[in-house]
Amino acid sequence: MNSETSQADVLVIGSGAAGLTAALSLARDKKVLVLAKGHLRSGSTAWAQGGIAAVLDTGDTFENHVRDTMVAGAGLNDRETVEFVIERAPAAIDRLCELGVPFNRESGDLHLTREGGHSHRRIVHVDDATGWAVQAALLKAAEENPNITLLPDRTCVELITGKHEAKYSASGRVWGAYALNTETGRVEAHTARATVMAAGGAGRVYQFSTAPRGATGDGIAMAWRAGARVSNMEMMQFHPTCLYNLEVKNFLITEAVRGEGGHLLHPETGHRFMTDYDETRMELAPRDVVARAIDDQIKRFGLDYVHLDISHKPREFVMEHFPTIYEKLIGLGIDMTKEPIPVVPAQHYTCGGILIDLDGQTDLPGLWAAGECTESGLHGANRLASNSLLECFVFGEAAARNIGELWDSFAEPPSIREWDESRVSDSDEEVVIKQNWTEIRRFMWNYVGIVRTTKRLERAANRIALLQEEVDDYYGSFRVTTDLIELRNLLQSAELIVTSALRRHESRGLHYILDYPEIDEAMIDTVLVP
Ligand code: FAD
Ligand code: SIN
Repeated sequence: MNSETSQADVLVIGSGAAGLTAALSLARDKKVLVLAKGHLRSGSTAWAQGGIAAVLDTGDTFENHVRDTMVAGAGLNDRETVEFVIERAPAAIDRLCELGVPFNRESGDLHLTREGGHSHRRIVHVDDATGWAVQAALLKAAEENPNITLLPDRTCVELITGKHEAKYSASGRVWGAYALNTETGRVEAHTARATVMAAGGAGRVYQFSTAPRGATGDGIAMAWRAGARVSNMEMMQFHPTCLYNLEVKNFLITEAVRGEGGHLLHPETGHRFMTDYDETRMELAPRDVVARAIDDQIKRFGLDYVHLDISHKPREFVMEHFPTIYEKLIGLGIDMTKEPIPVVPAQHYTCGGILIDLDGQTDLPGLWAAGECTESGLHGANRLASNSLLECFVFGEAAARNIGELWDSFAEPPSIREWDESRVSDSDEEVVIKQNWTEIRRFMWNYVGIVRTTKRLERAANRIALLQEEVDDYYGSFRVTTDLIELRNLLQSAELIVTSALRRHESRGLHYILDYPEIDEAMIDTVLVP
């Protein structure tokens, strides 16, 4: 072994809610290495606002939460998975309380807020910055655990499989990952008996997204290239209310603003337009319905944005519930206690991903996955608000448990070939990367957005095929950088999304296509096989 290789019992790729939950559970008796791209808080987890859904109120039931999840998911959810996750939510919240997450309380009990698609108040939260508190508590516990090593600034490039063994093997067994150390510029080999992929979503494939810069679908693309199936990639969720501001591009205004009484208004007439789209649920209809309504208003009336207004509520109430958003907006000259907030929809969550079972197992021996990079069957055609952090906790734990159960059957990792850089040089045309990043994100927004047509999807597919040649050529010729790795993964994710969208000949949940406006009787997942 040299300084550019390491061996752990288990390798975890990602330091968000899913990765750290798995690591903490595994670290009871295993040595765990956690790799993260950039810093350890760089994923979506730290950005989560609204909270975590769990049945904790005596007037609520698991069955209510299951029904709400499946209504939001337009029935495409896997009922067994939905029950599996929802029944484990109270225990997941208990574990977070033990780790010291300071959830809001009222007379000693956890305070529950409400979000779209939920028939009851069931969202536990830390003001309007839940993710930051959850990420901090998980990281603190991981940093204090002697069995966990955290390595930031490592951009995983590829999973290590049989073909990377010193003695080539055709087996798809995963033995860890190659990762670019962005401090040294060298690619390291990190091997392990088991690998957990928890690298988050692919939101940045769209021009407008609430997701952080690193959400480039790396985990999905790496697993796909290694031979794992992916499912329902056409189900990209758009959040209805991202701040519209020329300087601040991707600041989310939590759904809890609508949950606590905020109204959506036409910015010129003041009309509460959700009355025209969903008279019963209004602003608290599931996200796909509200995002499409806003998109329709913007396109129909040639607007830049619509208004989200909670200024009719008492000032103290707004400031107490939404301190982070209030501060951010005041800094931009908007006082949400007195005036409406300009908002637009933006990509927010990747519902599809690497296919996993209830143990977090993927198709590939040696590879488990959890969190936003997966398709577990929980979300179906549209994720119910605040169900995703929950999914991270439940599947992070499930994967760890399953690895523990199977541990004695795992072999030691074999000897692995070093990363081959003999045929590449330093890039002299970084502009190609920037140009292609921008191009992909723009055509994905324009052609593969909230409302789709077959023609636009085909245009996107043609663009992707052209770019693929260029990016493959570039990847084969130059030393890898994080930008290049991300570009390759963005393009791979775009291809998976467009291929899946072209396969679904119906409009269901987040996939709304004008050529097939009806919902199909048959409920079929779009499963792509490498
Ligand atoms: P992430 O937290 O995204 O972590 C991914 C990790 O993988 C990071 O550590 C990253 O560095 C690492 N990584 C990525 N690529 C590589 C690579 N190539 N090599 C090495 N490491 C890599 N959900 C809710 O349930 N409730 C909410 O209130 C909520 N609010 C949200 C608000 C915003 C603004 C956003 C964007 C999302 C929100 N979500 C919410 C969704 C939720 O935050 C995410 O789905 C969830 O945090 C995903 O966690 P994760 O562990 O799967 O991935
Ligand atoms: C929000 O706070 O609106 C985001 C909640 C989520 O994405 O689940």
